[in-house]
Amino acid sequence: MTQHDTPATVVIFGASGDLTKRKLVPALFMLKREGHLPSRFSLVGVARREKTDEEFRGDMGEAVSSFSRAGSPDRAQLDEFLSRTFYVCGDFANVETYKWLKTKLDEVESAAGVKDPVRLYYLAIPPSEFPVVLEHLAAAGLSPRDQADRIRIVIEKPFGHDAESGRVLNAQVHRTFEEKQVYRIDHYLGKETVQNILVFRLANGIFEPLWNRRYIDHVQITVAETLGVEGRGGYFDEAGILRDIVQNHMLQLLCLVGMEPPIRFDAEQVRNEKVKVLMALRPFGAEDLANSIVRGQYVGGDIAGARVPAYRDEPSVDPHSNTDTYVAFRVFLDNWRWAGVPFYLRAGKRLAGRTTSIAIHFRRPPLTLFRQARAPEPNLLLLQIQPDEGIWLRVGSKRPGGRVEIDPVELQFRYSTTFDQGPPEAYERLLLDAMHGDSTLFAREDEVDYAWRVVTPMLEHWKANPGVPVTLYPAGSWGPLEGDRLIQADGRAWYNEIPGRD
Ligand code: NDP
Ligand code: BG6
Repeated sequence: MTQHDTPATVVIFGASGDLTKRKLVPALFMLKREGHLPSRFSLVGVARREKTDEEFRGDMGEAVSSFSRAGSPDRAQLDEFLSRTFYVCGDFANVETYKWLKTKLDEVESAAGVKDPVRLYYLAIPPSEFPVVLEHLAAAGLSPRDQADRIRIVIEKPFGHDAESGRVLNAQVHRTFEEKQVYRIDHYLGKETVQNILVFRLANGIFEPLWNRRYIDHVQITVAETLGVEGRGGYFDEAGILRDIVQNHMLQLLCLVGMEPPIRFDAEQVRNEKVKVLMALRPFGAEDLANSIVRGQYVGGDIAGARVPAYRDEPSVDPHSNTDTYVAFRVFLDNWRWAGVPFYLRAGKRLAGRTTSIAIHFRRPPLTLFRQARAPEPNLLLLQIQPDEGIWLRVGSKRPGGRVEIDPVELQFRYSTTFDQGPPEAYERLLLDAMHGDSTLFAREDEVDYAWRVVTPMLEHWKANPGVPVTLYPAGSWGPLEGDRLIQADGRAWYNEIPGRD
């Protein structure tokens, strides 16, 4: 990361919330610690709870100590960071809130000797509040059209709840902000290992020639969590895993694996290519919707030796809920590169292990030369996004001895042993990019729209068939058996191994 010294003010709406405490402020502190924040930087938080600047600083100091990857921070550095941190209390629906905010910004920026800094509004708030804040920002003159070059807005997910609402929200955003000012965040794109997908593909001459239907048999993308809904039952019960993980994080992974090399590595060209992947996704037919999409929900079970409750017993979840906590399905990209290659996607909460991975399964060699009891395993390239970030390549090797026996062995690269520093948190990279005006790692309007078009038919099918129950699976398993059958029906199996785990 390079240092740009343009003065910047970050305004976080939702400054008393979970995301601010666990991710945003710790990330800003880490940027400060590593010398990436501009020397004239200010942070202003806005939320409903009454707090003084001093109380807010106390809370944010604790947040940094508890959640930043630095562990216990250097006191002097933390104090310096907190001294540039301010708070405005008010309801988002109240016009006065924006007058107070404007006054505060004038005070803070003039005290720092700053005129017209980069200003980042970060909406870390419930989606129902997005339109309210957007309208008030415009009405209060906090986003003048003639200052579009220095004023930006970061919008958290979920960006709408289906294709139509996503479009309505985009229209609302554009009443106040031009597209170039809008940064729709998907924190997966800030992960080092996710950025490495394109680097690995395109900076190594040996893989790109193989990256197509001629050599690849199929691709599996898995986002498996052992966590449940972690106190976000109210939100999750409305959303389900299809909206929470698949529409954004997983489709982004699919785009990065499936896209053509962009003509330049810049925001427009990268996003143009990603959109083409989403456009190439074969729409689900009625038969697929009815039979080839597995929707599951966990019941109680054991995870790492501890008993965990059923989804329907989680706080703020409807005891009769049909919400999906697991989903698995198969898609095809109808384009030249990928014609006929199945991509299997699955995401689930309370599964047997935590792993986010992309498993590229190669075709077998054209001829079996070595007569032996067991056919050699096909090559597998595993892009392990988390945990134990790295890349594994499975090849066949002769077992030492007089007979020809072929064993699968692994060539591996692990971030933890190769690089002497751990990867930065995704939010560090994304906040810095937004401050610098680089939107490459943020979703463009049409990208979000096409992603919603992929999942909306599934959502509509479930809504139209409320009598069809979700398939239950025990917490601590790899999901419902129907999920296994989905891929087994094609003569394949899910790759459930997690590197580094016994
Ligand atoms: P929280 O419920 O923890 O925080 C919401 C914040 O918004 C609080 O500061 C709250 O203030 C404020 N707020 C809500 N309504 C008003 C209002 N009318 N006036 C003033 N302030 C208001 O939510 P999260 O932090 O968990 O999530 C924020 C956003 O980030 C959501 O869009 C979520 O989907 C997204 N997100 C969150 C993740 C997470 O891990 N938490 C992960 C990915 C995305 P107060 O409490 O003082 O009333
Ligand atoms: C968030 C989802 O976007 O991503 C959560 O709302 C999920 O439900 C989280 O747990 C997973 O992120 P990560 O970085 O832990 O894989």
